[in-house]
Amino acid sequence: MKEKKIKESKEEKEEKKEKGLFARKQVPPFRFENGVAINVKDMDLFYGDFKALKKINMAMPEKKITAMIGPSGCGKSTLLKSLNRMNDLVEGCRVEGEITIGGENIYEKTADLARLRKNVGMVFQRPNPFAMSVYDNIAYGPRTFGIKKKSVLDEIVERSLRNAAMWEELKDRLGKSALGLSGGQQQRLCIARALAVEPQILLMDEPTSALDPISTGKIEELCEELRDKITIVIVTHNMQQAARISDKTAFFLLGEMVEMGDTDQVFSAPQDKRTEDYITGRFG
Ligand SMILES: Nc1ncnc2c1ncn2[C@@H]1O[C@H](COP(=O)(O)OP(=O)(O)O)[C@@H](O)[C@H]1O
Ligand SMILES: [Mg+2]
Repeated sequence: MKEKKIKESKEEKEEKKEKGLFARKQVPPFRFENGVAINVKDMDLFYGDFKALKKINMAMPEKKITAMIGPSGCGKSTLLKSLNRMNDLVEGCRVEGEITIGGENIYEKTADLARLRKNVGMVFQRPNPFAMSVYDNIAYGPRTFGIKKKSVLDEIVERSLRNAAMWEELKDRLGKSALGLSGGQQQRLCIARALAVEPQILLMDEPTSALDPISTGKIEELCEELRDKITIVIVTHNMQQAARISDKTAFFLLGEMVEMGDTDQVFSAPQDKRTEDYITGRFG
């Protein structure tokens, strides 16, 4: 009896240690200042000789939704990916200028990539769940950060699915393959998976473009719920979507950020003729 008690308290200790490790010690969060999460300063991006982004300057506010709109090929995905250095793997890709998160230059040689990707999560255009169970999809990230204890993982899985408004839907299917879910469910699972490591920023690249209107609506609702909890940067080619969900909108054209402002203002009173032409459907 006595032994058991000791064992429990040791387990409790370990559990606490794991939680603490995950939240703070190994991967410290970025400290945002003056309500700004991400700051892009005079940033150019090259694919070999091709300049895909030109002198980008923009600040993305903390715990708000920033939408990036513009015609295909104007550099939206390129910019989004550069915010957590996903372009590092593209050969010949070079970034000049500065991107700071919480004041830290993420392109500095000493930048900690694991910390960056933990704090800046990403969701892609096509849902890409791993070929494993719903549970293991969500637990994957936390496990890579060293969390092994089942009770801790159980808690993370439940919390992440709740945050993605999917717990009721999936709680009896945790052991089933994620590949058996519908496209819309898979995409929301990918959002839950991204949320599982408690990112400060969530990047989403046209997350609803492959989905039906009902699934699209669910993801928009989800963004709404996450709005004041984390910073979201979303690329969308759907202007109505940008108008519905975002606080700030940035319009891109041919590798330039033409204008950025409060979403209402950009759509009702654009400052630049090119923005006006785009939102009134003259091209795109
Ligand atoms: N890996 C790459 N290598 C070379 N050029 C690329 C690569 N990825 C994108 N591009 C080019 O960069 C430009 C911007 O692309 P992208 O960021 O995908 O635009 P968007 O997301 O706005 O449609 C396009 O001209 C595209 O062809
Ligand atoms: Mg794109």
